[in-house]
Amino acid sequence: MSSLISRNVQYVQPHRVFFTDGVFDGGNDCLAEAMRGGPADGGRRRRVLMVIEAAVAAGQPGLEEAVRGWFAAREEAWELAGEPLVFGGGEPCKNDWERVEGIWEAINGAAIDRHSFVVAIGGGAFLDLVGFAAATAHRGVRHVRMPTTTLSQGDGGVGVKNGVNRFSKKNWAGTFAVPWAVVNDHRFLRSLAEGDRRDGIIEAIKVALIRDAGFFEELEANGEALAALDDDVLRRLIRRSAELHVEHICSGGDPFELGSARPLDFGHWVAHKIEPMSGFSLSHGRAVAIGVAVDLLYAVRVGMLSRADCDRVLRLVRRAGFALWHETLERREADGELSVLRGLEEFREHLGGELTITLVTAPGKAKEVHTMDAAEVAAAIGELKELAGV
Ligand SMILES: NC(=O)c1ccc[n+]([C@@H]2O[C@H](COP(=O)([O-])OP(=O)(O)OC[C@H]3O[C@@H](n4cnc5c(N)ncnc54)[C@H](O)[C@@H]3O)[C@@H](O)[C@H]2O)c1
Ligand SMILES: [Zn+2]
Repeated sequence: MSSLISRNVQYVQPHRVFFTDGVFDGGNDCLAEAMRGGPADGGRRRRVLMVIEAAVAAGQPGLEEAVRGWFAAREEAWELAGEPLVFGGGEPCKNDWERVEGIWEAINGAAIDRHSFVVAIGGGAFLDLVGFAAATAHRGVRHVRMPTTTLSQGDGGVGVKNGVNRFSKKNWAGTFAVPWAVVNDHRFLRSLAEGDRRDGIIEAIKVALIRDAGFFEELEANGEALAALDDDVLRRLIRRSAELHVEHICSGGDPFELGSARPLDFGHWVAHKIEPMSGFSLSHGRAVAIGVAVDLLYAVRVGMLSRADCDRVLRLVRRAGFALWHETLERREADGELSVLRGLEEFREHLGGELTITLVTAPGKAKEVHTMDAAEVAAAIGELKELAGV
């Protein structure tokens, strides 16, 4: 005998991405707007713990002072909970479990409750880490993300995932958590090193390839400006890329990836494998560029994509300044198998279920496949090596 109680948990949460310039300028109320919403709380002041990536604090002199000034001018509504917490970001912070503990300690020490906020300012890796700590403190405190790289403003930072790396696997520990809001401040990009400024372009090319042929053509038409990292072109690229990512999350039918597919992760099964294999010396963006190239060549080999379309995309990827090769691609396991091929099983295992890889059949058109022929992947890698002239 068995019996059942079955109901639906109804849950709707807005996903808001604000765009601004100079979020901590005296007259800029974007952050206040971003933190509003939720159940009324009797006009109580809300506490806000600021967590800032060291490279951003160093690259934007006066930032911490501007933060203090911004809160001081709005003290009836918002209270800065202690000094901003500042520490190093980049991929290494996601490999350091003690950092999670450190953020929890700060959240606890600042008496942040579920009506208070943790506002994080930093690159995608830093946001993944702080987002994970915020989502697990008190089972989730209100969290505002302020991405500070091209890549995170157009992609990772506007998503609903967080995570840290464990067992040499990307994002092994993490949660799905819709941030209270995301604030994209273009001014943060000013202090980025050239490579980090460039990295976001590949995620825009990626999302254009699988979702929006018109956007792909626009990127192609702006190849020269992209190569020169033209600020206006980057601004438009971030906006459209963010829009397409948010659209997918909110209308794609599987925001928390309960199925077997990660439709936006084109080129990522290779990227997620070679990043750790390179000891994370390869940035996520540079690894994605290589992953995209492998999957495009593979798609040509199995008759899914025309050679002309493949060449067209690879031309743009190179023009935008990405290398197509990394030596990890030809590393082998003791049994002689290419190590990168293990990335397929790891990619499957992350979600469970059936292996599902997104490939591209033409710019703007994606198709999911459930098997990848190892010999053809190896041949695609061989072709890539030749193409890259290594
Ligand atoms: N959560 C998601 O949905 C999602 C999606 C895509 C990517 N990601 C993750 O995001 C990470 C990559 O993010 P990223 O490309 O932003 O790289 P990153 O966070 O590693 O930042 C790149 C570099 O730029 C520095 N930096 C950041 N902002 C700066 C600024 N304004 N001025 C000067 N230096 C600055 C960082 O210290 C780092 O050295 C990866 O861990 C990736 O897995 C997450
Ligand atoms: Zn990515």
